[in-house]
Amino acid sequence: MSKVYSRYQTPSLLKARKRLGKTVETINYQMDSKYQTIGNGKTYCVKTYGCQGNLADSEKISGLLERMGYTNVVEEEKADVVLFNTCAIRENAENRIFGELGRFVKYKKNNPNMIIGICGCMMQEENTIEMINKKYPHVNLIFGTHNIDKLPEYLYEIEKTNNPLVEIFSIEGDIYEELPVKRDHPYKAWVNIMYGCDEFCTYCIVPYTRGKERSRKPEAILKEVKALIEDGYQEVTLLGQNVNAYGNDFTDIKYSFADLLRDLQKLPISRVRYTTSHPRDLDDETIEVMGMGGNIMPHLHLPVQSGNNNILKRMNRKYTREDYLSKIKKLKKAVPGISITTDIIVAFPGETIEEFEDTLSLVEEVKFEGAFTFIYSPREGTPAATYHNPLTEEQKHERLNKLNETINKYYLEGNQRFENQIVKVLVEGKSKNNENMYTGYSEHNKLVNFEGSDDLIGKIVDVKVIKAYSWHLLGELIK
Ligand code: 5AD
Ligand code: SF4
Repeated sequence: MSKVYSRYQTPSLLKARKRLGKTVETINYQMDSKYQTIGNGKTYCVKTYGCQGNLADSEKISGLLERMGYTNVVEEEKADVVLFNTCAIRENAENRIFGELGRFVKYKKNNPNMIIGICGCMMQEENTIEMINKKYPHVNLIFGTHNIDKLPEYLYEIEKTNNPLVEIFSIEGDIYEELPVKRDHPYKAWVNIMYGCDEFCTYCIVPYTRGKERSRKPEAILKEVKALIEDGYQEVTLLGQNVNAYGNDFTDIKYSFADLLRDLQKLPISRVRYTTSHPRDLDDETIEVMGMGGNIMPHLHLPVQSGNNNILKRMNRKYTREDYLSKIKKLKKAVPGISITTDIIVAFPGETIEEFEDTLSLVEEVKFEGAFTFIYSPREGTPAATYHNPLTEEQKHERLNKLNETINKYYLEGNQRFENQIVKVLVEGKSKNNENMYTGYSEHNKLVNFEGSDDLIGKIVDVKVIKAYSWHLLGELIK
C-alpha cells in the first residue's frame, strides 16, 4: 500500500535558482490559539547541524515548540517530538545526519508515538526527500528553510491525521518578525540581519537552499538588540550569508551594513560581532566603522577560499588575490591588531599543485589567526559539480594536511602576541575540562581560561595572559 501524506510538496533546484522580482513582505508572527496547547505535557528535542544560521533557526524552532506547550528534554530517546535541523554544505555533513537518523529507528520502536521531523538546508535538495522516504520511513515530518513558521500547523495536522507530511517551498518566503525564540545562551545572542544569498559561488548549494537575499528592516533589528540589552545580553553576533550585502535589496530606503553598525555602536551593548563577510562586498565604509572601534569587536571572519586567481575565477568569487590582500591591508591599518580568520577550500576541481601553493603563500602573507579548511565536496545542481576533478582522495587529503600545518603555525603566533597582556573576557562559565577553571572569549575572539568564580559568569573581566597555547590562552584574573 502506498503511503498517504497530508501534504506532499518536494523541492526544485531550478525554481530555487531563479531570482524573481517578488516583493518580500514583513509579517508579524502570531500563533493561532488552537496550536498553543498541542504540546501540553509533551517534550521535544532539536538537533542542530551546520552554521550559525542553523543555530539561530533552531532557537526559533524551540521557541515555537515551547509556545505550543512542549518542554525541552535532554534524553532524545524520550522526546515526543524530535527535529533534525540539517546542513547541506558538504557530503560528510549529510552522512553524519543520516547516521543519526538511523539510530532513531530503535527509539521509535520503543515509542511509536514519537514524531520525527527533519528540516533545514538538506531538505531543499532534490534527492533527499525520496531517499528519506525510502530508507527512513519512521520520519513523519519534512519541511524546509522557508517555512519554519508553519511548524505548529504541521504538528497539528500530524496529531490529527497521523499521516506523514512533506512540504518544501523552493521560492523564499516572507520575513517573519516576532517569532518566539528560545535562546541557547544567556549573554550572547545571534541576530539575523538578512536571509539568503545571491552570490552563486560555483561550489555552493546555499543560494539554492536559502533563496534570494532579503534584509530585515533596520527598526526590527535595533528593536531586537534593545530587547536583548534589557534582558542582560552582553554580545550580539549579526548573521547573514553575506552581511556586507545587507540593505542592497531595500527599495524604499537607503541603509547599508555600515549604517547598521553605526547605529549599533550607539547602543549600550558591550560587543558586536558579525558573520559572514564576502571580500568583494566588504566596503571602505564598513572598514572605517570598524576602525572607530567602540563595541565593534576587532575580529573579522573573511572567507578567502583560495589564493589563486584562476581558481577564484572558476569559483565565481568576483575578486582577485590582489583585491583580497588590499582589503586585508586596509583592515589592518584601520583596526590595529585585528584578528582575521578565514575559510579555505582545497582540491577545487582542476586545482593544480601551483594553484594550491598560491593558497599556502596567501596564508603566509595574511597570517590568518584561524581558519576552517575543507576538501571540496561536489554538491549536485551546482556548476562545479560538473567540473572534472582528477585528484585522488590521497592527494586531496595531502593538500588539506599541508594547509592545516601552515594555518596552525599562525594560530599559535596569533595567540602568542597576547602573552603578558591584559585582555577583556566575557565569562561564559566553567571550563569543561577543569572544575576550577572558567572560560570565555576575548575581544579578538580568543578562548581564554583562568581561575575564577561563579559570580563572574556573564560579566566582562580583565585577565592577564600567562601563556599562549595553540587553541587557547591561559590567564590570571585581575582583581
Ligand atoms: N565543498 C567544500 N567546502 C564548501 N564550502 C561551501 N561549499 C563547499 C563545498 N561544496 C565551505 C566554504 C564556505 C564554508 C561555509 O564552507 O569555505 O565559506
Ligand atoms: Fe549548512 Fe550553508 Fe545551510 Fe548553513 S546555510 S546550514 S552552512 S548549507
